Amino acid sequence: MIKNDLFLRALKGETVERPPVWMMRQAGRYLPDFMKLKEKYDFFTRCRTPELAAEITTMPIEQVGTDAAILFSDILVVPQAMNVEIEMKPGVGPFLPNPVRSPLDVNDIIVPDVYEELGYVYDAIKLTKQRLNDEVPLIGFAGSPWTILCYLVQGQGSKNFDKAKEFCFKRPDAAQVLLQKITDTTISYLKGKVKAGVDAIQIFDSWGGLLSPTDYQTYSWKYIQQIIDALKDEIPVIAYGKGCWFALKEMSQSGAAALGVDWTCSAMNARYLSGGQITLQGNFDPSRLYSSPQEIKKMTTQMIDEFGKDRYIANLGHGILPDIPVRNAQAFVDAVKEYKPR
Ligand code: CP3
Repeated sequence: MIKNDLFLRALKGETVERPPVWMMRQAGRYLPDFMKLKEKYDFFTRCRTPELAAEITTMPIEQVGTDAAILFSDILVVPQAMNVEIEMKPGVGPFLPNPVRSPLDVNDIIVPDVYEELGYVYDAIKLTKQRLNDEVPLIGFAGSPWTILCYLVQGQGSKNFDKAKEFCFKRPDAAQVLLQKITDTTISYLKGKVKAGVDAIQIFDSWGGLLSPTDYQTYSWKYIQQIIDALKDEIPVIAYGKGCWFALKEMSQSGAAALGVDWTCSAMNARYLSGGQITLQGNFDPSRLYSSPQEIKKMTTQMIDEFGKDRYIANLGHGILPDIPVRNAQAFVDAVKEYKPR
């Protein structure tokens, strides 16, 4: 049904002519047309207006030719729907005037009716699917419960999310209650996305790598596994954990269709740790897009050689940076499309 189904075939582990390519955070950030919209509408207006979300989502398909679209939205719309006030400060990032700091605060967090609170996301998906006209698949996403907790407790971005970890380790019972509420909301939210028409789901565990391997199981993976269990029979799920190479073995046995890896793990190690069968996605260092287009192309080809063309989705190891020139992003995408197996 979808004309360019390379991405969906790679998720199934089928043999492909070349790997599919998309870039994490490709919708927004670096495209000049996005910057223009950014001047006119604030962040959550862009998320809440289906017309704008659909327009931003399709920009990278039309302008750099990626093989999949990812819905323009944010992982933080979920905690917003759970009764938490979240602002997006231009140039700074997320800011919560009243972060969660005590078990009492956890009581105020609700598990909402997602269709009531997040209906605008589903409308954006339906409109985007119409606009895409089955050219490429559409990816829906959510943050992992741990990554959402990081923002809920810290109240803003952070290098080490020390307050979030302090809360978990001083108030483990309250932390588990909070993580379960986020998990339950995320499961119904994502089921709604499937109903609205997305073709795959990615879970972003952007801050999973801040936890020790043991704490990762307790505070992050346990909940991601619940999400995968709830969705895997309906739709392919990609589990991306930044810095989570240590968990690849367990992740490979989870029922996820693919695993995202970042640039600190070599292709060889990622294949070894994940057992060699599951589709992997990644792992170009986003900062390497500052190199010359020529160099980017060379390194991208080498990356595919290392992962192999099958059971592989070419991507960055984390989101594209806001000041990357479009021609450099284009060089990355083109190198994948021009790939010839040796
Ligand atoms: O491809 C896409 O861009 C799709 C949409 C998307 C956004 N955020 C839009 C956005 C996706 C998939 C996300 C996920 C997201 N959001 C994550 C997980 C991925 C990752 O990068 O680790 C996280 C941790 C967030 C939380 C978040 N949202 C932060 C920390 C920030 C500020 C820093 C930044 O990225 O600029 C945001 C804001 C945000 N989300 C922007 C965009 C395009 C930039 C703000 C703006 O456009 O006004």
